[in-house]
Amino acid sequence: MLTREEYIRQSVEINLFFLRIIKEHLIFAAASFTPKDTKLITESINLKMQFEQLLSRTIPLADGLISQEVLSSGEIVTPFTLKAELATQHYTGIPIETRLTRAQTVIRPALNNNIVMGLENHVFMLNEHALKLTCYAISTKKKLYKDVVECKTFTHLYPELLHHVIEEAGYYFEILKKLQRRDDMTITLKKIVEYQVFWNHIMSEHGEFIRGMLDPSEEELIDIADKFADEFDDLFKAAKDASEKAAMEVVTKKSTEETSKFREFKMQGTKGIIDCKIKSVILPLLADHVLRESSHYLRLLKCFKRLEEE
Ligand SMILES: [Fe+2]
Ligand SMILES: [Fe+2]
Repeated sequence: MLTREEYIRQSVEINLFFLRIIKEHLIFAAASFTPKDTKLITESINLKMQFEQLLSRTIPLADGLISQEVLSSGEIVTPFTLKAELATQHYTGIPIETRLTRAQTVIRPALNNNIVMGLENHVFMLNEHALKLTCYAISTKKKLYKDVVECKTFTHLYPELLHHVIEEAGYYFEILKKLQRRDDMTITLKKIVEYQVFWNHIMSEHGEFIRGMLDPSEEELIDIADKFADEFDDLFKAAKDASEKAAMEVVTKKSTEETSKFREFKMQGTKGIIDCKIKSVILPLLADHVLRESSHYLRLLKCFKRLEEE
C-alpha cells in the first residue's frame, strides 16, 4: 500500500513526464496526415490541447514537490525542448503551448517531505482525468492504426511508430491505474525484468525509426542507429530470459551502458536537426521526445541498480 506522500509524489512525477509525451504523440500524428484529412488533424490538435490543459494543472503541483533525481534526469525538458517546439510549430503550423515548457524549466525540487494538505484530492482528480483522456487517446490511435494497416487512411508515420505510441500510452495508463488503487509500487526483481523488457523494446524501435527517417545520404548515422536497434533488441531478449538476480544484474548493467550511449547519440542528433546539420524527415520535437524517453529510462535503470545492490 502506497503512503499518501508516495502516492502524491509518484503521481505528479509520472504525469509530468507522460502528459507531455502523449501530447507530443498527438502533434506527430496531426503533422503526419495528408491535406485531405482535415477532420483527423483537427481532432488530434484538440485532443493535444486537452493534454496541455492537464499538464498546466500538473506543473504548479510539481513545484517544490518532485525529487531532484527526476528534475535533473532530463526527462521533463531538455535544453533543446523549447527550440524544438518553436521549429516544429514553424514547420507544421500546429500551435504548441511553449509557456508550459518555460514553466517546466523553473520547477524546483522538494526541500522536505511536507506535503500540502488537500493535495491528495487534487492529485486523485488529476489522475482520474489523465486516465480518461489517455484511454480516449489510446482508442483513437488504435482506430487510426487499424485504418492505416488496412490501407483506409494514409499517414507519414510508420505503422510501427503508431503501434509504439499506443504501447507507451498503455504503459502510462497501467501506472495510473496502479496509483489510483494505491498498489504497492515497490520495485521487485519481477518488475525490474518487466520494465527492462518494455523499455529495451522501446529503445530498439527508436533505433529503427531513426534509421528509417534519416536521409539516405546520412550513411554513418544510419549505421549507428541500426546498431542501436540490434543491440537493444538483444537486450530486450536477454531481459525476457533473465529469471535470476545475477542474470538480471548483467542485463541492467548492459542496458545502462547502452542507454547512456544511445542518449548521447540522440542528444547530438537533436542538436544536429535543430541546427540544420542533419538531413532527415524527423521533426525536431520528435528528436527531443525520444531523447527524453531515454533519460526517463536511464533514471529507472539507475534506480534498479541501487535496488539490486541492496
Ligand atoms: Fe513516445
Ligand atoms: Fe518512444
